[in-house]
Amino acid sequence: MGEVTQRLARRAFAFTSCSLGLKGLARPTPVYRVERALMRPEKARGIDGLRAELIGRDEELAKLKAALVQVLQGRGQVVTLIGEAGLGKSRLVAELRLAALAGVGSGEWGVGEALVASLSPAPNSPLPTPILWLEGRCLELTMTAGYSLFVDLLRDYFAWRPEEDDRARGERLSACVRALVEQGALSAERIEEIGPLLGNLLSLRFGTDWDDRLKNAGPEQIRHQTFLAVRDFFVAVARRQPLVLILEDLHWADSLSLDLISLLMEALPLAPLLLLCVYRPEREHKCWHLGTIAARKCLGQYTELPLRELTSEQSRRLVESLLTIENLPPTVKERILEKSRGNPFFVEEVVRSLIASGWSTGRARVPAAKPWVHGEPERRSRRSACRRVSRASSPAGSTGCGRSCSRRCRAPP
Ligand SMILES: Nc1ncnc2c1ncn2[C@@H]1O[C@H](COP(=O)(O)OP(=O)(O)OP(=O)(O)O)[C@@H](O)[C@H]1O
Ligand SMILES: [Mg+2]
Repeated sequence: MGEVTQRLARRAFAFTSCSLGLKGLARPTPVYRVERALMRPEKARGIDGLRAELIGRDEELAKLKAALVQVLQGRGQVVTLIGEAGLGKSRLVAELRLAALAGVGSGEWGVGEALVASLSPAPNSPLPTPILWLEGRCLELTMTAGYSLFVDLLRDYFAWRPEEDDRARGERLSACVRALVEQGALSAERIEEIGPLLGNLLSLRFGTDWDDRLKNAGPEQIRHQTFLAVRDFFVAVARRQPLVLILEDLHWADSLSLDLISLLMEALPLAPLLLLCVYRPEREHKCWHLGTIAARKCLGQYTELPLRELTSEQSRRLVESLLTIENLPPTVKERILEKSRGNPFFVEEVVRSLIASGWSTGRARVPAAKPWVHGEPERRSRRSACRRVSRASSPAGSTGCGRSCSRRCRAPP
């Protein structure tokens, strides 16, 4: 595939780059070969080589930190972070994680010096890290697959590698859950029930009698027991070390995953657990009720965090921090601000198209940037840039939305 497609798909597949001599072209053309799908695909966001500082969002970040401090002090919390596509939900989560890491020893968290030493998962390490940070993501493609969110979370916990087979993963699961028994977080009897259920959820084989434990159970019984097993498992992990579960893109969550989140909310009194539920405001989707459920089940432990558009001043700062164009005409700048409507993703897309059109002297690496000189190319470039500005920020424009997506949410890919 060519550079543009590769850029859009770069967070979902592994590629190798090569070049092809094509008929009629003097120079070899850079192309990419798809090697494999990534185990945990992500959205392609941002501009290669450029990253704007976080603009605004002080209040939201402060509330997220406050919730994390509560968890570190032993009080479980639920937060719902809700905002339209591209408004910066995932960026805020990433900033919280960075802030927690940077807070090591700074005393900022008010919970003692060494509490936040590392956030990386270390499932069977004998000395637990101060916080365990796990991320599970829902995908539009797996909306109908049961438990897809929790499968992703558990993959993160068990740190699966692409080269491992099911048997190796089964052995790791088995070792990890047994470690919870050794650390006193779960009883040996309970692990004999939880292990096979988690293996079944993740479609693993153990090569032991765990493989046959559910042979005679009916679907409803398995569903019920799986719910309890997942709850008990995360409670056990959180007892070992405060646990942050990032539950991303719940507007694509399957029904079982949402019911399981609701069950986990009831476990907050049992362990230091932060459930950070991230989703777009899609009122017809079941995720929309999470806030109401949290308000009912987790009184005093629930924070609702709606995300709004950036103000025009903030959008202006975002454009300026991404783009170093000395003579960008004010009309183009105004058009960017008007078309992006305070949505940082749209601002980035517009800036990207400006760079690709040759406007920028910026530092970004964007394919198809054409060199231009003063005069006629400048005029052409300006026209093309403005066209791109309109396209990139039109509701279902060049954001790459599929048909179903543009209907519902004007979503970036
Ligand atoms: N406040 C901000 N300051 C600077 N850049 C931002 C800000 N908010 C978001 N961005 C950037 O805008 C892009 C879109 O943000 P992000 O992916 O977090 O949106 P989102 O709300 O998670 O969207 P989606 O619902 O599609 O997942 C990212 O590249 C992010 O770094
Ligand atoms: Mg996101």
